[in-house]
Amino acid sequence: MNTIVEVIDENNIDGKALETIKKAGEIIKNGGIVAFPTETVYGLGGDGLNPESSKKIYAAKGRPSDNPLIIHVADMDAVEKIVRDIPEAAYKLAEEYWPGPLTMIMNKSEVVPYETTGGLDTVAIRMPSNKIAAELIRQSGGYIAAPSANLSGRPSPTQAKYCIEDLDGRVDMIIDGGPVGIGLESTIIDLTSGTPMILRPGYITRENLADLLGNVDVDKTILDASSKVAPKAPGMKYRHYAPKGDLTIVEGEPGDVSKYINAEISKAKDLGKKTGVIATKETEKMYKADSVKIAGSRDDEEEIARNLFTLLREFDDEDVNVMFSESFNDTGIGQAIMNRLLKAAGHKVIRL
Ligand code: TXA
Ligand code: MG
Repeated sequence: MNTIVEVIDENNIDGKALETIKKAGEIIKNGGIVAFPTETVYGLGGDGLNPESSKKIYAAKGRPSDNPLIIHVADMDAVEKIVRDIPEAAYKLAEEYWPGPLTMIMNKSEVVPYETTGGLDTVAIRMPSNKIAAELIRQSGGYIAAPSANLSGRPSPTQAKYCIEDLDGRVDMIIDGGPVGIGLESTIIDLTSGTPMILRPGYITRENLADLLGNVDVDKTILDASSKVAPKAPGMKYRHYAPKGDLTIVEGEPGDVSKYINAEISKAKDLGKKTGVIATKETEKMYKADSVKIAGSRDDEEEIARNLFTLLREFDDEDVNVMFSESFNDTGIGQAIMNRLLKAAGHKVIRL
């Protein structure tokens, strides 16, 4: 398949850009699939109400079809059509956080095909704030089913070049809207059973949600590798975000961490391995790896979130085989950072 790539400036959706978005909308209405920017990560979109489109998305990503897709909408009317009984909490959350990086799970109505929900009676819904995404949803008939636009298992794409790397020749079109702002996927909250439960941490934190809703549970499997229970979001059970090399997280005092990592790096180098470290602005100079990457400043979790997936992809591009990362706080956005990092490391953590 020939993949069309088009560049659009989110802050200047002029006549030509609008034409491009309309063309992408036509592709989706006709059952095709298009990668597009959102504020979190790039998505791979198809018509959420067309079972054939969902099948195409699974095939293009190489994703297991029991892993449900998020339906992206542009207004609340659309939510009313695909949900049976919208709970009060959903209106509250929408008022505060939509459009934005929050996905809500609700009971689906019959118009949503099981191909989109991976066979579940619930549906995940998000209203993205990215202007290209919002316009594309309107031009596509109102319901875009979209997972992150990466091959299954790889880090979610934060730039169009990573969509091209993974999906060129596998999708009809890729819209390049520049680098994303947030860099980690949306927070997912399940509103279908009693106390609202966070199934995937993200930019909207547990603290944010508890402020608004009162009691909020967190799926125990989010940070705990030893949990025997399956995560409630089917996608969270897969090894994810994985770089090609071997990643270990090292937790402890900065001096101890750098000493440990440098000793391990020296051993790996002796074996002819190419080594990498995910460090912070504060600690960068302490490491002797072939490739030392700065995730950001310890004072700026948003910066670390924005850079994380990009760093993992860069290690792949540089053919780094052995990587170490510092550990981060697991409160606030840190919970999302640690959740993705732990998955990327296959939960390999050294506690000093
Ligand atoms: O920020 C995001 O959410 C990005 C952008 C493109 O919007 N999308 C994204 O989609 O991350 P994806 O497919 O990579 O992740 C969706 C997650 C999966 O873990 C999936 O299992 C879960 O949401 N999910 C979807 N529908 C669900 C449902 N009905 N019940 C429980 N989990 C669900
Ligand atoms: Mg994904």
